[in-house]
Amino acid sequence: MEKFYISSAIAYTSAKPHIGNTYEIVLADSIARFRRLIGDDVYFQTGTDEHGIKIEEKAEAAGISPKEYVDNISGEIRKIWDLMNVSYDKFVRTTDKHHEEIVQKIFKKMYDKGDIYKGEYKGLYCTPCESFWTPSELVDGKCPDCGREVKEVSEEAYFFRLSKYQDRLIKYIDEHPDFIQPESRKNEMVNNFLKPGLKDLCVSRTSFDWGIPVTFDSKHVVYVWLDALTNYITNIGYDPDGSSDEFKKLWPCDLHLVGKDIVRFHSIYWPCFLWSLDLPLPKKIFGHPWLLMNNGKMSKSKGNVLYADDLTQKYGVDAIRYYLLHEIPYESDGNISEDLIVERINSDLANILGNLVQRTISMGFKYFDGHIENKNVLDDDSKNLINSINGLFDKVKSDMDTIHISDSLTDIFDLLRLSNKYIDLETPWVLAKDDKNKDKLETVLYNLLESIRVSGVLLEPFMPDTSKKILDELNISDKSFKFNDSNSYSLNEAKPLFMRINN
Ligand code: MSP
Repeated sequence: MEKFYISSAIAYTSAKPHIGNTYEIVLADSIARFRRLIGDDVYFQTGTDEHGIKIEEKAEAAGISPKEYVDNISGEIRKIWDLMNVSYDKFVRTTDKHHEEIVQKIFKKMYDKGDIYKGEYKGLYCTPCESFWTPSELVDGKCPDCGREVKEVSEEAYFFRLSKYQDRLIKYIDEHPDFIQPESRKNEMVNNFLKPGLKDLCVSRTSFDWGIPVTFDSKHVVYVWLDALTNYITNIGYDPDGSSDEFKKLWPCDLHLVGKDIVRFHSIYWPCFLWSLDLPLPKKIFGHPWLLMNNGKMSKSKGNVLYADDLTQKYGVDAIRYYLLHEIPYESDGNISEDLIVERINSDLANILGNLVQRTISMGFKYFDGHIENKNVLDDDSKNLINSINGLFDKVKSDMDTIHISDSLTDIFDLLRLSNKYIDLETPWVLAKDDKNKDKLETVLYNLLESIRVSGVLLEPFMPDTSKKILDELNISDKSFKFNDSNSYSLNEAKPLFMRINN
């Protein structure tokens, strides 16, 4: 059994997450579920990132303490992850006492090693992004990430010797082509950040309190990204004084799944922090694209935000999971709108999937009282369908291995489409007119049921409830990924899986 540690980013507890943040967790969930399906020993970690000046300010505006504020939002985030049926193994919080203690030890260890030193920070700071920028990094004098104003700040601060690790990191990335994916993100990191040279990183703040205090200099709190990134190790038993067996089993992480905007933190800061602690690097950092609304960035102030709870109430959890996973390609941004969601539900979920299941099961009842066995009367179209059933798993696996999640769904839906076409080619209603075609008719239905079964099994990572419903209707426990020629079906009545929506 192979262990597979997958993490998502930990979401800021500044506001309720929109459907864009929700996309990432559903994406991570589909990978975690797929790995479990193929027998891996999966550990899936997610959670919330709760410190920083932005949160302190929001809490003050709301008239409550920062802790109350983050408790509320973290709870809301967890509720949305649960609503979306996210199968995380651990939900972590950076305000957790244990995390805070280990971060303090990590900071001290880096300091004792000489990788952190005290200096003076003068620079341009973007408060919402919690990021420092050099004048040359600004775009039109504004933050290159969010486009907002930056301000000059000057404060006594601790610095991490990022520059010390620069050459090692360039060499590492060069020698490990899979470390940062997709390729385009890797090139962006190397060309825009590594090649121009790494400056030491300011890793403490004195301008606010809502953070983890530096034990040996308590007016400083630890920079949020040092605090946040270490969540990946503090929560699995890393301890500078001696780590747990769980840590030894789980680390290095197999996949850090993060949005394209924070690949920089994960592929530059994080490796250097880990080297400073003498730890191996994660195997892969994948920077997924973003979900846009009407092709623009989602923003509450622009009024173009969608939330998972509203959408699932209207369309159902699996329809939204399907939409998110299918609609966002490997590396370019995807788009969402309610019209597009309805289009997808009608064309893919109701027409292709729902119809196939409904038609096949009702024919099963009509012609064979719901009891179908394989009579092995195969023509070329049947052989073609069986070949496609048998080829599906390898296609899905190869797409999942390379994080081409939407392609996996396309593969499954291609088989469902072919199955619908197979019904039209075989015309069961014509076969049923002549008793001498009985065995052929039963074979056709058997092949269709096997196609639905294998698709149903492989749909689990993407639409877990729908997968269960399909397998319940087929009333079958066989979860194998290939055509099985000796199943025996005793069907349950079909209930519609997805209704067409007429707007
Ligand atoms: N707290 C940091 C992550 C720290 S990880 C050690 C953070 N939080 S966030 O709440 O702003 O974002 C969480 C994740 O959601 C990030 O990976 C981010 O890229 C992703 N997304 C935010 N908006 C998104 C879309 N519109 N579409 C897809 N993903 C989006 O960054």
